[in-house]
Parts: sequence; C-alpha cells; structure tokens
Amino acid sequence: MKERIVDDKNIIKSNYVQIRGGTKLKGTVKPDGAKNSALIQLAATALIEDSWVTLENVPMISDVHDTIMMLGECGFITKQEGSKVTIAGSASTSTFSDLYGSKIRASLVFLGSIIARLGEIKLPLPGGDKIGERPIDIHMEVMKSFGIETTIKNGYIHARAKELPLKSSSIYLRYPSVLATVNAILLAILAEGKSILMNVAKEPEIVDLTNLLTKMGACITGVGTDKITIVGVSSLKSAHHEIMPDRLETAALIMSFVMSNGKGTIEKTIPEHNEPLIQVLRSCGIDVNVEGDRIHIIDSPITQGFRIETRPYPGFATDLQPIITTLGLKCPEPSVITDTVFKERFAHVNELRKMGANIERVENTIRVIADQKLTGATLEGNDIRTVVSLINTALSINDESIIYGISHLERGHSNFINKLKHLNAEIDLV
Ligand code: EPU
Repeated sequence: MKERIVDDKNIIKSNYVQIRGGTKLKGTVKPDGAKNSALIQLAATALIEDSWVTLENVPMISDVHDTIMMLGECGFITKQEGSKVTIAGSASTSTFSDLYGSKIRASLVFLGSIIARLGEIKLPLPGGDKIGERPIDIHMEVMKSFGIETTIKNGYIHARAKELPLKSSSIYLRYPSVLATVNAILLAILAEGKSILMNVAKEPEIVDLTNLLTKMGACITGVGTDKITIVGVSSLKSAHHEIMPDRLETAALIMSFVMSNGKGTIEKTIPEHNEPLIQVLRSCGIDVNVEGDRIHIIDSPITQGFRIETRPYPGFATDLQPIITTLGLKCPEPSVITDTVFKERFAHVNELRKMGANIERVENTIRVIADQKLTGATLEGNDIRTVVSLINTALSINDESIIYGISHLERGHSNFINKLKHLNAEIDLV
C-alpha cells in the first residue's frame, strides 16, 4: 500500500479505494456536521465586526478548509480545534485570490457578507462539483435588487454597492436557488429597512444558517417557507452555534446499508430531513424505522421499483439522485428517475454501465433495469455524490472494484471510508 499523503489541515490526499463487495454492513454510525450548512455559516460570519463566532460540529473536509482560508484572506483570525472553529475580528479586505474561492461553489456567498460589510468585492468565479450548467444570473439579480452593480472580468466578479448601509429590497427569485437565497439573506441582515424575499429556498441548511444569524442578533421571520422577511440591524454580536447533522451523509450511509443487504442504525441525525428518501425506500419494500434521532434499516427483500423526480426541498434532493440510482439496480422491476434541478447530473450512469448496469437515458430521465448480474470494475467519480454512488454499488457486488476520485469524496465527507470500515465493509484507501 502507498504511503498516505496528508496536507497541512490533516486532510488525507489519496488516489483510490479498493472494495471487496458482498459483505453485509452492520452496526451504528453517526453522520458528521452538514457540509452545506458549515460552508454558508462560515462565509456568513464575515458579517461580524470586532466580535467572534464559534461553530461546533464542523466537518473536517477540504471545502471547509478552503472556506476558512478565504476568511483568513479577508482579514479574520480563525482557530480550528477538531470540529470546533472560531472566527474573530472584522473583514478588512474585499479582494480574494483565486487560490480557494475558485475551487468551491459556496465561495459565492462571500458576495452577500462582504458587500454588506465593506460595500464591494472582487471574488473569483466559483468552482464546485461538475454537475452541468451552474449559472449565477439569479445571484446577480439579487445583488441588483439591493442596488449593487456587478461586472465579470478575467474570471472575477467585481461588485460595488452605491452606499452603505445597503437599502432593503423586495425580490421574487425566479427559482428557489439555495445559495442565491443565502446571498439575499446576508445582504438584507445589515440593510436599512425591511426586506421581503419571495420564492426562496426552504432547505434545512437555510434554516440552520438563520438559526445562527438569529443568535447573532439578526431579525428574520418566515424561514422554511416561501417568504422570508428581514428587518435590518446595524451590527451583529458574538455567537456560538452547533452545525446540524449532514442529511446527505445520513442518506449516503442509509444507502450503504441497503446496497450491501445489511442492517444497522444511523444515530444522532434528523430523520425528518430524509423523509423523501425514507418514503421511496419503504415503497420498494425496505423496512425503515424511525425512532427519535435514529433511523434503523432492516434488511428486507426489495419488492418494487420506484419513480422519482428531484425538486427543491422538501422534494427529493438532486444530491441524492446518483445515490438512489443504485437502488434501481436491485429492484425487481424498472425504476425511473428524472432530475429537474441539474439536468445533466448523470456522470454516474456511464461508470455504472462499466459494471454491467442497464440504464437507459433520455435527456434528464433515466430508466434503471436490473436485468444483469453486475461485476466489479475500475471506475472514477468526479463529484462527491457520484463517488458515493459508485462506492455503494461496489459494496453490493460480490467482486473487487477500484474507485478513483477520492479527493472529490473528501470535499464532502470526512472519514467516510473509516465509517464504512467500522460497519464491516472491506474497503481500503490506497
Ligand atoms: N440556477 C440558475 N441561476 C443561478 C443559480 C442557480 O439558473 O444563478 C439553477 C441551477 O443551474 C440549478 C438550480 O438553479 O439548475 C438549482 O441550483 P442552486 O442555485 O439551488 O444550487 P447551489 O445553491 O449552487 C446548492 C448545493 C448543491 C445542491 C444544490 C441544489 C451548496 C454549497 N451547494 O448549490 O450541493 O446540489 O444547492 O440543492 O450548498 C453537493 O453538495 O453535492 C451539491 C452540489
């Protein structure tokens, strides 16, 4: 086995995992804090002035590392002790290098916090998962509604407010984009007057963010509905907040049990966030019991196929689309999946075909037919959820597989391989 390479934040850099599938997973496992909550909350802390925010349950993943580095770039002192991160000070610069911001999508959220505080920003165009077209036009419309002028030049977004504090806005988002909703919220927090944000995202990560902002003294109502109202305040205070459990990691682990015909428990999670997935599993005959903050998966025969369409929350999450595709490979009748959020998010399909999977695709709809015996293969994933989907499929096959693209997995999950090992999986990071 090759020596593990570890970077300055102790994040393991590795090449691939080797999996011998066919072992039933068993045991109890806890998800880490939510990636998509941690990223937007870290960026939101840039709203503070001469105060501090401590976040607990922050996952140790490379996207978090990049976001913390961006906070450092704009002048904050950051301290990381395990999963606890403290951000202190004030934003002093509004220009970011392209070292970190261009790697992650959530860097876009610095538009909201830095412009609200400093009135301008120079931010590299964002990176993130390669899952099809990811325009930023709704973000630009949000900024315009707050009187902010934007231009894009040489790979950078330049934006400048007419005045500070910003004036409140009333905006209807064309689509309930998650990060555009975050930008609208962050711009409204310190703006003068009452902002009304309509057709906004209702994702649990938005609710978790506003729980932090409320502790910091923000005045927000309507979160979790289509319409959020924010009355601007002149400054925010120090606060302490624990990031909610990751619903996407919870779902990934649920599917690891299901795909391996195993049984076990995900504990310390919020089952309600995974209700759409739980309903699909139950409709296929899989026994899933919810008890407080625990989800129990019972190994049960799969009796039916399923049909889903991805939608903004509380619909079935697009992030789970590659992960649920693999379930279709075990169903006794065809399953049909349509991704209405990211219409090109089907990189996993070509890889799964290398294992012998029979999957037909027409535009943004796939039909999964489990009429073939799958075999192990050497595969590659280029985004977080594809890698999870390939790993889970490999766990279900009584053969050996090699999965490349583990740096993508590490962008979204910390210690995922160790979690699977703990559940009895024969999996090694090489
Ligand atoms: N869209 C536009 N214009 C915009 C913004 C979005 O047309 O200005 C479209 C997108 O192209 C897409 C749809 O709106 O078709 C939804 O995109 P959204 O803006 O909601 O996505 P996002 O905010 O950039 C977040 C998550 C993604 C997750 C999506 C959808 C973070 C950091 N990212 O992205 O997470 O897929 O919401 O739920 O929160 C992941 O974790 O693997 C991941 C990709």
